[in-house]
Amino acid sequence: MQYLQRNPLAMPRGGAFRSVRSTISTIFDWQYALEERKLMALYEKGTRLQWRAEDLDWSVDVDIERMARENATDDFMNDVMKAPRRLSMDEAVTFRLHSVAFMLSQFLHGEQGALVASARIVQSVPWEEAKFYAANQVADEARHVEVYHRYLTEKLAVNYPVHPDLQVLLDQIVEDSRWDITYLGMQILVEGLALAAFGTMRITMPNEPLLMDITERIMADEARHVAFGVLSLAKLYQGGSSAERREREEFVIEAIQLLHGRLLMDPVFERLGWDLSVWRPWNEQNAFQKGFRQMMFTKIVPNLKRLGLLSPQVRECLAGLDLLRFEDGKDSVEEPGVAPPEELIALMNDYLGTGEPTNADGSLRIVP
Ligand SMILES: [Fe+2]
Ligand SMILES: [Fe+2]
Repeated sequence: MQYLQRNPLAMPRGGAFRSVRSTISTIFDWQYALEERKLMALYEKGTRLQWRAEDLDWSVDVDIERMARENATDDFMNDVMKAPRRLSMDEAVTFRLHSVAFMLSQFLHGEQGALVASARIVQSVPWEEAKFYAANQVADEARHVEVYHRYLTEKLAVNYPVHPDLQVLLDQIVEDSRWDITYLGMQILVEGLALAAFGTMRITMPNEPLLMDITERIMADEARHVAFGVLSLAKLYQGGSSAERREREEFVIEAIQLLHGRLLMDPVFERLGWDLSVWRPWNEQNAFQKGFRQMMFTKIVPNLKRLGLLSPQVRECLAGLDLLRFEDGKDSVEEPGVAPPEELIALMNDYLGTGEPTNADGSLRIVP
């Protein structure tokens, strides 16, 4: 697919390439048992549901700034989001454009992480069924990179390099020699977050048909990828020593903190020249933004539960970020997709009506 890179991607401080060293064992499976029916069914589904980037209608004229103006983004930022100082329409529109560009840029970089991680799973996982599935996933991830890259460079005027916290997490995932850590880090955590994040796009950008089409297609793929990770690891983690389990739990805690950090929009405030000492606390504490960040973990928490990784320490970490509330949600084996984020829809309706969107303690009100 040929396209014009009108706005080439911004490079991170470290330059255009990053090299991460690691040693992994490549496993051949001469049994070809192909008896893990659920994995084989996922693989077959994946091959049936392949799509191409050129299937999308790229002729759509994307104008985020015009949309933001039409949606009275200044009122939204000032009255609903309670910006720490009054923003003019121009400032609010710029912030909106940069927020969207920041989020989509991180999606793109996460997709590249998924591309290299799934390739590595092909090599390192012992079972042929999982190699098949991961091979199919590699093709999915290449397409996801392609689509987000085209959208960012052709349709948006702004983009961002990889967030330092996301870079650290991706490095950790690919540096580790244990193949299950590749799965845990990428399929369960990074992709679990992406799956929920794509769901919130339906709320924040419902009027942009191209992005909605991209989101729907990629979400269907990601739902399978996360389910693949959960199915593969659930059996593995039933066994294992307590020391091994503790190491995985420690990895999960650090990864959750990095994922949470990458959701904060420091690079946006820095780029706009807005005072970080004012805007970061607002970003951290604002009920809407907190709510959106919490929504990103709706799938991760029940999946960790299914894997038996909700130890007291992991629970404490999740509770500190007010994320334990999702532990009884449906995991990716019970329900591969993300439930439409009804809570956020309710929240938006709420603010459009009369009610306040938060509980008395300032946390997001989750409407059943
Ligand atoms: Fe992906
Ligand atoms: Fe994926």
